[in-house]
Amino acid sequence: MSDHHDVFTERESQVRSYCRSFPHVLSTAVGSLLYDGEGNEYIDFLAGAGSLNYGHNDPDMKAALMEYIAGDGITHGLDLHTEAKARFLTTLQEFILAPRGMDYRVMFTGPTGTNAVEAALKLARKVTGRSNVIAFTNAFHGGSAGALAATGNQHHRMTGQGLHGVTRMPYDGYNGDGVDTSEMLAKMLADPSSGVDAPAAIILEVVQGEGGLNQASPAWLRRIASLAAEYGAKLIIDDIQAGCGRTGTFFSFEEMGVDPDMVVLSKSLSGFGLPMSILLIRPKLDEWLPGEHNGTFRGNAHAFVTAEVALRKFWATADFSETVSRRSARVRECLLELSKQIPGSRVKGRGMMQGLDVLDEQTSAAIRRTCVQNGLLIEAAGPHDEVIKVMAPLTTDDAVLERGLAILSAAVAEHVAEVRTLALAG
Ligand SMILES: Cc1ncc(COP(=O)(O)O)c(C=O)c1O
Repeated sequence: MSDHHDVFTERESQVRSYCRSFPHVLSTAVGSLLYDGEGNEYIDFLAGAGSLNYGHNDPDMKAALMEYIAGDGITHGLDLHTEAKARFLTTLQEFILAPRGMDYRVMFTGPTGTNAVEAALKLARKVTGRSNVIAFTNAFHGGSAGALAATGNQHHRMTGQGLHGVTRMPYDGYNGDGVDTSEMLAKMLADPSSGVDAPAAIILEVVQGEGGLNQASPAWLRRIASLAAEYGAKLIIDDIQAGCGRTGTFFSFEEMGVDPDMVVLSKSLSGFGLPMSILLIRPKLDEWLPGEHNGTFRGNAHAFVTAEVALRKFWATADFSETVSRRSARVRECLLELSKQIPGSRVKGRGMMQGLDVLDEQTSAAIRRTCVQNGLLIEAAGPHDEVIKVMAPLTTDDAVLERGLAILSAAVAEHVAEVRTLALAG
């Protein structure tokens, strides 16, 4: 362990989190590999919680950024027009929105995902004149008050935060396979005595990244979209984690037959791990007054530069999507195999956003601990961290993916063997 280690325990706030399960002091990273100061290599199955879909230090993005900085390109410009922003907007239109027949205005919010969620909720409340928002069980929308109110997880919500303005509804599958939770929402919205006020918005993730890799079926999603339309609520899809190719298509809801009023993007949008968030707004809803959702860091010029490269490099053809689908199938095959070894466990999620629900916190922690000891950075999701989450960069080459999956498989085998030994001893 490097000499720097004490400075973190002595000086950094207790709020630090990911570093608790992965204490190594990292120094460099390329693609899907991380290195500490002593040159030890780690495989990255965390990918900045979905911020590094194209891996670390993509050479083309790096070259473009270095050239931009070397040429004294604007770094900070508030929301002034810059050439970098113009190029980003044009590229987003050309490679993402136009080919999908989408017509959205692009709002640059503060750089974090949670700030973009705040903007979406504020705009929905403004245009509808309503305050209630429907959000779902196990949702994660961010850590600032408005987004946190829409978040399910008790640990993040904390107590005594005075969060309000959200009605919680069961997500798809929450009440078991046989129960269609959209029907419950339909009934409550139709019933003037249900206690649910007419909503300004319905906000959801199509795959719940932090909430345990629960996924919405196309039929459920379409029903929610039609309820939103019927009751005058704006449908907001939070694609912060599931978007930018994570599920195989650029947006998580593509080919599911819904047309959201707003879409929130962040994390891998810059392609390079640089902070940038946007809110896509159906043009007729763009009722903002100038500066109404203000902020110093709206739009990040360096992120514009790398995002432009990312969109051109990975989304000009269907090749990248096809490669992601092929890799996702391999991840699924491996996880299905592992699920046979742990009774009751199951594979969750889709695309490169899949995981193994091992049912409890202890099993998940034990397996992940062994992974970390063997050089694999991997995290968990779900209300009890019970889902071991495989979030490798989408660009992870086959050999590295296999090495990572082999470490995970060996950790599962080790855990199963330990449980067996304990059972025999007991
Ligand atoms: C779906 C979703 N929404 C919102 C957020 C919040 O984004 P940020 O952490 O950048 O504020 C996250 C972060 O994990 C997320 O996964």
